[in-house]
Amino acid sequence: MAKKFVGVLTAGGDSPGLNAAIRGLGKAALQRYDMQLIGFLDGYRGLMQNRTVRLDGHQLSGILTIGGTILGTSREKPTRMIVGGKKLDMTEAMVDTYKKHHLDVLVCLGGGGTAKSALHLKNAGLNVITLPKTIDNDVAMTDVTFGFDTALGIATEAIDRLHSTAHSHHRIVVVEVMGHNAGWLALGAGVAGGADVILIPEIPYDIDKVASAILQRSRGGKHFSIVALSEGAMTQKYYEKYTKLKEGKKKAKDKNDKKEKDEFSQQLVELEEKHRDHTFWMSRTLEELTGLESRVTILGYLQRGGAPSAADRLLATRLGTACATLIDEGHYGVMVAARGDGVEPVPLEEVAGNRKTVPLGHQWIESALSVGTCMGN
Ligand code: F6P
Repeated sequence: MAKKFVGVLTAGGDSPGLNAAIRGLGKAALQRYDMQLIGFLDGYRGLMQNRTVRLDGHQLSGILTIGGTILGTSREKPTRMIVGGKKLDMTEAMVDTYKKHHLDVLVCLGGGGTAKSALHLKNAGLNVITLPKTIDNDVAMTDVTFGFDTALGIATEAIDRLHSTAHSHHRIVVVEVMGHNAGWLALGAGVAGGADVILIPEIPYDIDKVASAILQRSRGGKHFSIVALSEGAMTQKYYEKYTKLKEGKKKAKDKNDKKEKDEFSQQLVELEEKHRDHTFWMSRTLEELTGLESRVTILGYLQRGGAPSAADRLLATRLGTACATLIDEGHYGVMVAARGDGVEPVPLEEVAGNRKTVPLGHQWIESALSVGTCMGN
């Protein structure tokens, strides 16, 4: 059988475990299946510009434990690339690069956005496979994504450390946790770290209920509280406005009314702009409502940095090596999903455009409520 040529890129936000996945895929592809590997730099932009790096045994060695991605990354999409100051559809240039290198398949490591772009390239005639990466854990059709466990550990440790200072100063500490529009990280770290209040995007909250839970703790002799606040969490009022605008925009789109759609988009931008200050607003408002002193800690990019946890190294290696096997079998157009102890190919059509948020009856929510955590509703 002819040697297979494999292209690899990483797209979207960086995440611990990306290098472990590249290594797993690469070593299995080279050593087990005698394939040839080439990396594209900085996500889909490198594919468009044909900026490459050879991936041989040397490059793949010593990267298992390293954070970030040796390939670099970017958030750009094939259909909306900034070229010469303009947003252009550069799909054709990407197809050309793919052909120039006589690739049999392009492996894209990334989250939901990356899967959408990969599906687009599939529809343009390329063989593609994706691997699910993101600290947000919001990729559909996989049990878990690599990067999540590491970020969960970091956020949990931060909550642990904040307990002693909150306790000593009798303060509220509002910890902002990443996760985009999904609450997995804040919920997981909140439960594992014993946060007193956990607020996630899936459960719009009432600030008065949060304040009253904190006051109740205070009356019971606990004069400090930790609030794990997901960056995408919203008040019930904000949620109503946001949902109305979203629905309006969708209706305008369905009617093909561009002017009305743009108006809704603009209003959404303005509303989201107001939400930027959300964590500080919450801290100020809780001070006013409870009379307790409050402080903010934003964990930010710390959650994406550094060495992957053992669980992420294992998951990334499992998915990467399984990907090489799928390539050997000629099984393309899929995401390599983690299912229980195994790995399963899932058609990209079932992944792209479907975000996995926390289901309302999820056991993590039930457990949080059962130990007396306030979820804001
Ligand atoms: O998707 C990972 C993530 O860290 C989200 O949790 C966060 O909302 C977003 O990326 C931040 O994006 P950027 O790196 O573009 O600032």
